[in-house]
Order: sequence, then structure tokens, then C-alpha cells
Amino acid sequence: STATLLRGRTLTFRRWPDSVDDHGAYVYEEDGGLLMRDGRIIAAGSYAEIAAQAGVGVETIDHRPHLLLPGFIDAHVHVPQMQVIASYGAELLDWLNNYTFPEESKFNDAQHGRRIARLFVDEMLRHGTTTVAAYCSVHKQSAEAFFAETHERNLLTIAGKVMMDRNAPDTVLDTPQSSYDDTKALIAEWHGKGRQLYAITPRFAITSSPEQMEAAGALASEFPALHVQTHLSENHAEIALTRELYPWSKDYTDIYAHYGLLGAKTLLGHCIHLCEREADVLSETGAVAVFCPTSNLFLGSGLFDYQRYRRREKPLRIAAASDVGGGTNYSMLRTMDEGYKVIALNGEKLNPFASFWQMTRGNAEALSVTDRVGTLDAGTEADIVVLDSRATPAMRLRMETVETLAEELFLIQTLGDDRAIREVYVAGRAAKSTIATS
Ligand code: GUN
Ligand code: FE
Repeated sequence: STATLLRGRTLTFRRWPDSVDDHGAYVYEEDGGLLMRDGRIIAAGSYAEIAAQAGVGVETIDHRPHLLLPGFIDAHVHVPQMQVIASYGAELLDWLNNYTFPEESKFNDAQHGRRIARLFVDEMLRHGTTTVAAYCSVHKQSAEAFFAETHERNLLTIAGKVMMDRNAPDTVLDTPQSSYDDTKALIAEWHGKGRQLYAITPRFAITSSPEQMEAAGALASEFPALHVQTHLSENHAEIALTRELYPWSKDYTDIYAHYGLLGAKTLLGHCIHLCEREADVLSETGAVAVFCPTSNLFLGSGLFDYQRYRRREKPLRIAAASDVGGGTNYSMLRTMDEGYKVIALNGEKLNPFASFWQMTRGNAEALSVTDRVGTLDAGTEADIVVLDSRATPAMRLRMETVETLAEELFLIQTLGDDRAIREVYVAGRAAKSTIATS
């Protein structure tokens, strides 16, 4: 197999960057080289060093003056909500009932699911996202379609069919037994096939009966290596209804704890209105709170207190995500720009290194996949995004006055979107050309 050498300004993170002056938190090469072979990064360093190691005749792709970063990771998305984005005027429960459940009903049609899966991957890659943790619809065939698409295009993917058996139209309901059987069949078919990983996906406590929650807990204990994903504490009306449905619970978090669904591989969307006890439980179990700023703003759900969760005595593990289609953009740049504003409303500032750490290594840590993706370290899988900080007239003009890397990153986050993505490599292969243009 042949090797490829990428040349550009490489940036990767070692740990959380406390401030723009925390230079030990990242590794930046002004003229960097990444040598890739068989889908992996096999050497990383200065271009001169890596070029000497690669020897003469190695294919070199020169991306200067652009930045090379690990591909972006989106820790919470809904594939069947591509045609829900921009649905006007509702908060969570009405938004689900009026727009989302009817739309997800269409994924009973396998052909529709395959079409949307293809277009979803196109949008991900167009926006520089190389890994998602995804919810498919209740229909087994919708998960099959998404796994087939991401398998064919070789994306490291975490996904599952949602389990939901009540409080929604019949067309999007399963049963405790069928959700258990379908999940097991999907695990057998897809988990560990290529880069595909299965996530046990009870939608949230409102749409699962106690019997289904038990089935989800049984799956989680039968398959302890798998991710579990669900929603927690997003909206006040949601929380009130949840407490009515599980009157014995101490709080919303207690329900998931009761059914054995909390652990270091559990991803909990939103977590906006947690009390201290709930935050302690997440911290103790290692469950991840997923920050979905565009969605939380769009649905009027609330302001996730990122810095409080990070700095509390028992800190939370945090991921960041678009939550498309409650979220309003596929771009992790747009997501963290809105995230910055939410954190500002909580009286704090998120430094740009911390922001890009979150989109890459931070989300890889939250998804427990740092050994595979999220850095540019030798030995990891070669998922890489190429960022152009002069992608638009407004960006070019602002770049005239930029002096530091931190300022440049902040500019890319604040003004950037899909236009700032020059290329994206998936397991070592340039993938922008695989995106349909029509
Ligand atoms: N809670 C349960 N389902 C959903 C969903 O699809 N989107 C959001 N934002 N919250 C949810
Ligand atoms: Fe969601």
C-alpha cells in the first residue's frame, strides 16, 4: 500500500487548554507533515522531518497555508430530522409532536431512509465532521440504511435505532420486545463491522414504558462495551411530564440510574436543568453531558452552564453537538460559535483553543475513542479536516488584522461554516469529492 504525505499547518491537542497562553495543551507546526498509510497516520511532526522519513517519491499534498486538524466530531445528531430543521414556533414537546414524529414516520420506507442517510453523510463531510453519534428512527431499516452508508464511506460511526413505545403516533412506536430484538439484531449485524459501533438508544423516558426501560437496561448489561444514548433534562415541561410518568423517581436522572443506563459510555443530550444531586450522579458514573447550543437556543430550552459543570468539585464529562434537526446547523464551527455565546450569557468566555479541543479531542474523549480519532497522533485513524481561514471576503478582510493562532481560530469559529472546509480526509482518503453536488 502506498503512503501519502500531507503538508500544512498542523494543530492537535494534548489536553484541555486552560487559556490562550496554555501552550502545553496543544502541538502546532507552522510547516507540518502527516504521513498516512492504510487509513492511519503513521508519522506526524515537522514537514522536513516527516518528508525525510518518508523518502523520495512519496505522494505529497501541499495544503499550505491552510490548517490541518483532526476531523470534527458531533456527539449528538438525529439523521431522520434533515427535513425537520427550521420548523417554526414550538418548544420541545410540541416540536416533537407537530413536526418530528410525523417526519420520522417516513423512515418506515427503507428507500427514503437510504436517500436521507446518503444526504446526511454528504452534509457531515461538507462541514468537516468525520464522526457522529447518531439517532436513527424507530424503524430498524433506518439504522440499517445509516450503517450501510457510513460503512460504505468508511466513517467511524456510533449509531442506533431509537427505542420508543409510548406517547407518540403508532407509526413511530415499537414494543419492549421488538425494540430489544431489533437492537440485538442490529448489534449482531453492525457493531464492530468496519468502523461501525452500535449505541443502545432509548429516545427518552417519556417515550419509553417502564418495560422498555428495563429492556434497554438489559441490553446495556448484556453489552457493557456499547454506548448508550438518550436525552436528559432539556425543557421544563419535559421534566414535569417525566416526573409524572415515573412518580417514584428522585429526579429525572434517577430514572436512567434505576434502569442501569448510566456509565462512562452513556451520552446524555442537553442536561440543561440538572440539580446538584443529578450532576453528582453523572460525575460519579462518568456519564457524559452533551452541550447542544444551537438546539437549546432554537427550541428555547435553556442555557447549558458549561463552565459550572466543568469546574464543580465533581466535574462532568462534556461533549458538544449540533443536535440536528433541533439544532440549526451541521457545522461544528457554527455550533461552538453559538456555544461561545451561551457561555458568555453565563458570564464566562470559552477560549478558542478550548473550543477546538472540544470539537476534536474533547469529543473523542467523551465518546471514549481517543485511541482512534480526535488527534493527529501517529497510530490513530487518519480523519482530518483542512480549514481555510480566508474562505470568504469577510474572513479574508478580518485576517488582515489577525496576529496570533488563537485569534485565527476564533475568527474561523465566529465567521466560518462549510465554506471554510477545504478538504476532509476519512481514513486517509480525500472525501470531499464523494459529496454529491446536486
Ligand atoms: N428529546 C426526545 N427526542 C428528542 C429529539 O429528537 N430532539 C431533541 N432536541 N430532544 C428530544
Ligand atoms: Fe436530540
